[in-house]
Amino acid sequence: MQRMRLEQALIARQQQGLQRQSTEFSQVHGRTLLAEGKAYVNFSGNDYLDLASSPLLQQALSEGAQQYGVGSTGSPLVTGYHSAHADLAAELAAWLGFERVLLFSSGFAANQTMLSSLTSAEDLLLLDKLSHASLIDAALQHSGRFKRFAHNDLAALARLLPETATAEQHSLVVTEGVFSMDGDSPDLAAMLQLCQTRDAALLLDDAHGLGVLGEEGRGSWFAQGLQPSDLYCYMANFGKALGVGGAFLAGSRTVIDYIEQFGRHYVYSTALSPALCVAVRKSIALVRTDTWRRDKLNENIQYFRRLATQAGLPCLTANGAIQAIIIGDSAKALSVSQQLRQQGIWVTAIRPPTVPPGTARLRVTLSAAHHTDDIQRLIKTLQQVLLC
Ligand SMILES: Cc1ncc(COP(=O)(O)O)c(C=O)c1O
Repeated sequence: MQRMRLEQALIARQQQGLQRQSTEFSQVHGRTLLAEGKAYVNFSGNDYLDLASSPLLQQALSEGAQQYGVGSTGSPLVTGYHSAHADLAAELAAWLGFERVLLFSSGFAANQTMLSSLTSAEDLLLLDKLSHASLIDAALQHSGRFKRFAHNDLAALARLLPETATAEQHSLVVTEGVFSMDGDSPDLAAMLQLCQTRDAALLLDDAHGLGVLGEEGRGSWFAQGLQPSDLYCYMANFGKALGVGGAFLAGSRTVIDYIEQFGRHYVYSTALSPALCVAVRKSIALVRTDTWRRDKLNENIQYFRRLATQAGLPCLTANGAIQAIIIGDSAKALSVSQQLRQQGIWVTAIRPPTVPPGTARLRVTLSAAHHTDDIQRLIKTLQQVLLC
């Protein structure tokens, strides 16, 4: 009976043309990837600064494994917290200016912890409509009130926010530095001002901002002139621009001390590999000093935007590394993605439920590794496939 329900759901997904599957890559390296022996130019990863296959990170990972071992051997409050974790947490706090940092094995787990541990049943939780699944899922488990405001719409947020907080009832506003599917950003300074006038706390997921935006890659909050103390809690991960894997939460000592005591994903989950922590530290050093990586990425973004505008491609207006080309129909998005593949270009089609119905798209991601020729080829092929 139970199994029949699962089979029906699988059939329905297939009939709707929404079935997803992983492709097995034998190599994903810089600007190219290899699938079934064929090389493609990769416009789908999140390795914005071309760090994931850096020999320096490979070396750091191997040295970390030799010094600390591969696995952490336990949860952080048992045997899982090594000097490698303490050094990484201290380095993140110093780089970004937060009082304290806690490490997690994924951004999904960090977001779940952030929302589940920092809210009480009396609180009002307000999320941007296009928030990542990890935030939405955590918010759906919130036993108090939860509402979603129109994407990046401060007036809509203002309508939902109570004038003031009371001793028992607080409002928490959650947004992202760069939205993962649209690639755009909220006006964080204006959102902070609104939160401050309404006694609301601002929480930020900066998965796609850390490393890419602001001086030394400190993230979207820094690029928009916010201070660490303006954010009640900050989440960013190591698996995007930093090219490794894992995540962290940062905030005031009180907030992070509290999560350390009450955050169940933190307390009851095996800590991040210490070898990985050493690799992340190396990555942070490169992110901070290799300004050329951000410069090259920005050059590639500007170049893509110029060519895409000239070609009349239906791109959203974001100015970052994530460029969405809206196709609308899911089957058509898949077909365009396949036609690009035949021409040696890898761009994944993103379909509902990851994006709202009717907005299936190609999610193009740009990296410091791309050459101008790659971008020219992508635009030319898109023009042929979409506009001819
Ligand atoms: C905005 C955002 N938040 C959180 C996550 C989850 O991070 P992780 O991949 O480290 O679990 C992602 C990853 O897709 C993301 O795009």
